[in-house]
Amino acid sequence: MEGKTILTGIRVNSEMTLGNFLGALLPMTRLSNKYSKNNQINIFIPDLHTIISDIDGELQKNLVKEIKYYLAAGLELNKNVHIYRQSYVPAHSELCWILNCVATMGETSRMIQYKEKSHNGDASTNVGIFDYPILMAADILLYGATYVPVGEDQFQHIELTRNIAERFNHKFGETFILPAKTVEQVKFMEVSNGSESEKAAGIRIRDLQNPEKKMSKSAEAENSKIMMSDEPARVTKKIMSAQTDSLGKIAFDMINQPGISNLLQIEALVTGTPLQDVISTWAGETHYGDLKKKVAASVSGYLEDFQKRVSEISDEEVYKILEDGEKYANEVAKKKLLEVQKAVKLR
Ligand code: TYM
Repeated sequence: MEGKTILTGIRVNSEMTLGNFLGALLPMTRLSNKYSKNNQINIFIPDLHTIISDIDGELQKNLVKEIKYYLAAGLELNKNVHIYRQSYVPAHSELCWILNCVATMGETSRMIQYKEKSHNGDASTNVGIFDYPILMAADILLYGATYVPVGEDQFQHIELTRNIAERFNHKFGETFILPAKTVEQVKFMEVSNGSESEKAAGIRIRDLQNPEKKMSKSAEAENSKIMMSDEPARVTKKIMSAQTDSLGKIAFDMINQPGISNLLQIEALVTGTPLQDVISTWAGETHYGDLKKKVAASVSGYLEDFQKRVSEISDEEVYKILEDGEKYANEVAKKKLLEVQKAVKLR
């Protein structure tokens, strides 16, 4: 693969969960290392998406930490890897406005995330929550990104981006490159990573207490989520108390055994073992406690090493990376914005 752009962003509303990390940050890091020789890699902090809801901690601190996490996860930097803050590239907001005038109320109100976050359109919901996928479309279309590695909760937004871009091109002339369809995104991840356990798109790490749901930053129960800054004893306590089932056999079955399947998935991702191998190792076993102990040891060992690497990276290093990234992003985004402004006759 050559000449493509791979792009993604992770909000910084709070400390990151293991779900964000395994579902988005780690796969993006691996993709970047694999493709950055001949492709552009854009990793950005959607700080404007972050302020649509309350922030736990301080935005600036969370943001610096997220970039340290990429570096600690092994992200290799070179001239094709760009890391930037969304709000430092004003073209994102400007394109968002223009796309607002192309997107429809109907398609935007159908977004599941909007329905969930607004409790089905509660009148006190801020407009940012409604408009969030349109800003996301701007984030993607400004750079002509083909691949947008995200967890499955974001798939609907990628399809919306395609629809808006297609409508724009039809009405105003070929302007935008469409991101690949979500089925193609999944295929790209499979081919790229070559192992079931490392699929980025489509991964959904589950809430430990309620494995029907995704592990979420906003979950209230502490035991529902593992945070990247958790200490080993805490991780162990959370994993040992994870909800499972009463079937008494260890198997990968997301429908009937989501809790157990989630633990197998986490084990595979954290140890870098193909999921199939983890499943085979545990097939026929009946003691859930043994599996939990193993997963707890794997996750706490991983986090301990990871946290040590994070502590060794300075804030100065991070700000230098951002400066370089923002210079590049502004150049590319401004050029595209001008093309769009001309297409709609603002220029
Ligand atoms: P955000 O910040 O909610 O989530 C960041 C990424 O983490 C994934 N994710 C998960 N993956 C697996 N298991 C989980 N439990 C889990 N929880 C979250 C999400 O799917 C996502 O990939 N709107 C985006 C940020 C964004 C963006 C963009 C992404 C803004 N503009 C443009 C890509 C392209 C968001 O709020 O993700």
